[in-house]
Amino acid sequence: MNQDFVDSPAVQSLLLRASGLDSDGGDPRLKTIIRDLVEAAMRTIVRHNVTESEFWNAIKYFQNGAAEFGLIVPGVGLEHFLDLFMDAKDAEAGMSGGTPRTIEGPLYVEGAPLVEGDVNLTEDPDDTGTLYMNGQVRGPDGELVQGAILHVWHANSQGWYSHFDPTREQTPFNNRRRIKLGADGRYSFHSKTPNGYSVPPGGATEMLMKAIGRHGNRPAHVHFFVEAPGYRALTTQINFGDDPFAADDFAFGTREGLLPVPNRQGDSAYIAFDFVLQRATGAQDEGFSNRSRSAA
Ligand SMILES: [Fe+2]
Repeated sequence: MNQDFVDSPAVQSLLLRASGLDSDGGDPRLKTIIRDLVEAAMRTIVRHNVTESEFWNAIKYFQNGAAEFGLIVPGVGLEHFLDLFMDAKDAEAGMSGGTPRTIEGPLYVEGAPLVEGDVNLTEDPDDTGTLYMNGQVRGPDGELVQGAILHVWHANSQGWYSHFDPTREQTPFNNRRRIKLGADGRYSFHSKTPNGYSVPPGGATEMLMKAIGRHGNRPAHVHFFVEAPGYRALTTQINFGDDPFAADDFAFGTREGLLPVPNRQGDSAYIAFDFVLQRATGAQDEGFSNRSRSAA
């Protein structure tokens, strides 16, 4: 059977009816997207002669794996694809430059303490060294940025994030802060050094990675949002350039320009990293996507 089958009148008519395109109600944009998504699934089924059993196994996988979609999506490269797509659209619009964006991941929590000065992110004891990070937030012409807030979050040495830690041992907002920057745009924080982590053992993401011969490891990293009036909100992260998985991140979050190598002295690691923001073209640029996020 070849692709012509999907082009047959019976299948094309089914697609129109299934997506609601043959009727007036509903959201026209959603209808066309649903139509194309279902057609892409149909074409994949035909191209690979997917059997009935394989199809229902896949549906079962999605049902069982629903809680891990936030990891499956970066694991299969779709979250990084969104970054590449936004970069390409920015380039077309002449909006390139500044610190590269990269994936947010599923583990941000709203409402972290808003603090100032030289900040300690870590509340809880952790058998690891200390990370010292500092730098400056600047604009595209090197100008000082006023009123910036730097959101920072990272894992503990076991690779667990507060609020998502199955051991339930972490204090709320451990290794999470929003840092209000002064007029010079400088920031400085220290914390218990994070380590890289793997996807949950036995979970849906690991099952998929194993099935396609991949691993589920991320290098040690620190996540950031940067926001400031008049500037485009930035979603990014730095990955430790000396981590064994720095060039082999299962989530494709590592990017050129975001891989500083820590200066290690004893059990201390020092990273200097500056953020360069783009100017906002309108108020819509200043906020983050309305992705659903945890709040506490
Ligand atoms: Fe992360």
